[in-house]
Amino acid sequence: MNKIKIFDTTLRDGEQSPGVNLNFQEKMEIARQLEKYGVDIIEAGFPAASKGDFQSVREIANTIKGCSVTGLARAVKSDIDTAWEALKGSEEPRLHVFIATSPIHMAYKFNKKPEEIVEIAVEMVKYASKFFPVIQWSAEDASRSELPFLAHITEEVIKAGANVVNLPDTVGYTTPKEYGAMFSYLKENVPNIHKVDLSTHCHDDLGMAVANSLAAVENGATQIEGAINGIGERAGNAAIEEVAVALHTRKDFYQSYTNITLSETKRTSDLVSKLTGMAIPANKAVVGRNAFAHESGIHQDGFLKNRSTYEIISPELVGVQQKEVVLGKHSGRHAFRTHLMDLGFTLQDNQIDSLFEKFKDLADKKKDVTDDDLFSLVLQKTVNSDELYKLDSLQVQYGSHNIPTATITLTKNDGESVQEAATGSGSVEAIYNTLNRCIDSELKLLDYRLQSINGGPDALAEVFVKIEGNGVEASGRGLAYDVLESSAKAYLNAINRMIAIQEYRKETKQEVM
Ligand code: KIV
Ligand code: ZN
Repeated sequence: MNKIKIFDTTLRDGEQSPGVNLNFQEKMEIARQLEKYGVDIIEAGFPAASKGDFQSVREIANTIKGCSVTGLARAVKSDIDTAWEALKGSEEPRLHVFIATSPIHMAYKFNKKPEEIVEIAVEMVKYASKFFPVIQWSAEDASRSELPFLAHITEEVIKAGANVVNLPDTVGYTTPKEYGAMFSYLKENVPNIHKVDLSTHCHDDLGMAVANSLAAVENGATQIEGAINGIGERAGNAAIEEVAVALHTRKDFYQSYTNITLSETKRTSDLVSKLTGMAIPANKAVVGRNAFAHESGIHQDGFLKNRSTYEIISPELVGVQQKEVVLGKHSGRHAFRTHLMDLGFTLQDNQIDSLFEKFKDLADKKKDVTDDDLFSLVLQKTVNSDELYKLDSLQVQYGSHNIPTATITLTKNDGESVQEAATGSGSVEAIYNTLNRCIDSELKLLDYRLQSINGGPDALAEVFVKIEGNGVEASGRGLAYDVLESSAKAYLNAINRMIAIQEYRKETKQEVM
């Protein structure tokens, strides 16, 4: 059996998904979960892209010890220097440096001849090896590169000190047969190829990212890059959870294994979905709501006689619980704390105390508090702790013959309070008009989504919104027992993020990738 390393780029390529902007605490939360999930390498960001990226890569590199942490750099010295500053505190600093190798990219992006690209790649790998013990070099747009040139540049960067060679299908254009053949070709035509790990990085524009990645494994790749839930630039990256479950379920065929703890799949996927606001389609492989539902009578009949008639992946394998243990208003602090630990949260005593109060409030209104409720409650509390504005009070007047009116009081983190009232054609619009007044801005609501956690009349309401103001887009989430309160919280969360992004931009005059 061959070990396949899993390189997770949820926090870099995944965060490039349109409309996704994770704050520092959210990135940290995801990184911790990825460590628990068992990925071998976390790509924490692109340190030279912005001050925010730099800081989060540095913190993740300093904190995460159970796997390697890497950051992306273009083949320029200043990017490599910045990446080193961000990553030097990591246990095994690892650089991911890339340059494009396809004729179209070399001509139009760089206006350089192939040999000049080889020179830059070699020089930058040599430069990086002064600092980094491990260097991954990527040939951007490898799948549209000429194979003899790809073989030549690969041989040279290995001589220069690269330890991993990654061959991305940057535009999601290739097919499994073609992509596999590219790996075979390099194995046969690069004399020093045995010195490196060969890696895949596939985009899903034609819906073949996972199939392409697996075809590369059949042809000698020993590392797969991807993102949780397949998020990423445009149509996204190969979905890590699909790759891991496919390698496990078909180990008879692939003769490979990974370090992934499959029972953490559902939790990892839920976390990324909640924090990025990218919903998981019900029919998505492995983690979709319907992935284990059998609808047709014939299937149900067969399944009840013997599960293997229609089930190739058991829900338990990927951590989907069929029956949840629930807590209620009689559950004590000890049971609550134990339950949070079982869910995998490591929290300080003061955090548990304040969460316990929230839990008690919830249990007063809701008979059974499920794992999903707790998960959302903890996330809401832990990732939104340093916001500029907090919702102090919300009052909404609604009647079928009246104009809905909202009155809101916010408290700023310097103690100042702001109170406003406004109307709207519906209650949610009245709330959002009032919040706009509180911060004296006209914001545009780009997206609003409401879902109940677990369903039922006493379910928690979770709202996701996306807003735009002064050229900045930001998303926000809110959770409350009441739909209007969670709508207000989500909008305010987005406002806080938008302000944080605006401040960053002012401070750093940052150039965004
Ligand atoms: O898709 C791609 O080519 C990339 C590289 C930067 C590795 O994301
Ligand atoms: Zn990519």
